[in-house]
Amino acid sequence: MTGTPCILAIDQGTTSSRAILFDGEGTIQALAQREFRQHYPQAGWVEHDPEEIWDTVVAVCREVLDKAQADDLNVIAIGITNQRETTLVWDRETGKPVHNAIVWQDRRTADFCRRLREAGHEAMVTDRTGLVLDPYFSATKITWLLDNVRGVRARAEAGKLAFGTVDSFLLWRLTGGRVHATDATNACRTCLFNIERQDWDADLLSLFDIPVSLMPEVRDSAADFGHTDKAVLGTPIPVCGVAGDQQAALIGQACFKPGMVKSTFGTGCFVVLNTGETIVRSRNKLLTTVAYRLNGKAYYALEGSIFAAGTTVQWLRDGLGLIQSATETEALASSIENNNGVYIVPAFAGLGAPWWDAEARGAIYGLTRGSGKAEMVRAALESTVYQLSDLVGAMVADGGTIEAMRVDGGMVANGWMMQFLADILDLRTDRPVIAETTAFGAACLAGLQAGLYGSLDDLATRWQLDRSFEPAMTVQTRARNLAGWRDAVSRTLTER
Ligand code: G3P
Repeated sequence: MTGTPCILAIDQGTTSSRAILFDGEGTIQALAQREFRQHYPQAGWVEHDPEEIWDTVVAVCREVLDKAQADDLNVIAIGITNQRETTLVWDRETGKPVHNAIVWQDRRTADFCRRLREAGHEAMVTDRTGLVLDPYFSATKITWLLDNVRGVRARAEAGKLAFGTVDSFLLWRLTGGRVHATDATNACRTCLFNIERQDWDADLLSLFDIPVSLMPEVRDSAADFGHTDKAVLGTPIPVCGVAGDQQAALIGQACFKPGMVKSTFGTGCFVVLNTGETIVRSRNKLLTTVAYRLNGKAYYALEGSIFAAGTTVQWLRDGLGLIQSATETEALASSIENNNGVYIVPAFAGLGAPWWDAEARGAIYGLTRGSGKAEMVRAALESTVYQLSDLVGAMVADGGTIEAMRVDGGMVANGWMMQFLADILDLRTDRPVIAETTAFGAACLAGLQAGLYGSLDDLATRWQLDRSFEPAMTVQTRARNLAGWRDAVSRTLTER
């Protein structure tokens, strides 16, 4: 085939599915995006319709492939990146899911997690997986499906069903049911994967009562994941890279050296610090996770997960109708000199790291008769920054030395917020030229496997800075802001 070699990155996120075609220089040649519905069957529950996920993925892929054909681009490989932890179980024969996907934000298994904690299992779980016992991860969601959807446990025990995170489900469908696999970065978010031995952990499968026959094969992040079926996207294309979206963003941000850290502002916000070949055990409730696995070798990271970032701005727009569009937030937040004492703790889905309070719920503090739209918008943006500051504080307390923060995701277009971030973290904040870091990370993995890129060093030299934000806030102002936040969080936490 002729034409410019390109990689098709599929980015299946929490609120939309995207397909992006990158050429070897990382330039976007085509992009398509479709949003899909969020289902909230009960308070604290969040589901996605797997068929809608699949339909939107196929639609966006076809859209960019048509463009590739028209522009004489040669799509040499696919890289998949995805919302992590979200749990699917489907029939191996028909490919039909047994239930909606249970989304990472879903809290229905909070009680189950508490019982396991009370029974003293958390230390073992953390030791094997690097995670904590929280409904966030896939394991308790799988158990819920096995125990609450009629006939599912029996069918699972008879080997008729398959489990997967979204990457795995897409891979299964894309390959016409020939490949049931995942990569180590997704596997390590299930709470069933032994991060040291790099395999499913028999003790954990037994603790959560999950038959091993459900589990996909775990491969490197850059690997041969089979070819797409002709019936799905026309010509068969090799799938050469898979990574969870936060790890993909770490790769897209070229954070390959220990000490390098990125935060991605999406629905939630996720800070990931590369720790190289060392498994760093957090003493501050951060997660230890696989950053990427290449040529059979795992590299690790410390991660802090905030459940509500972009969601909070979405809530201002769709829930409260305070703004028409997220782009208005920059002008509103900077229209007042300070937050006037208003703090929002956006615990819509509980609080993630370092609090891990599944039952906490959102709250607003400090309202006076003078508080208005600007205060609410500013407090919403500030809440993401404060949560991030808690995470960076935990990383430093765990021994991390951080020189600068690389940022990406939708919110980083907001210059006011990036300056506030640098000010509160007291850390230089670097925004790269490539804003689509997550999808680009998936393209990098696929490109490494397909021979488009030579090495991680090769990728690192391609990272380009758009703008740096230097801290400029006084020590007193920072301390005053953070004291208000700490007070608000402490009032929001439930007793555990
Ligand atoms: O762990 C959940 C995360 O992978 C979801 O990311 O970007 O879809 O909010 P995002």
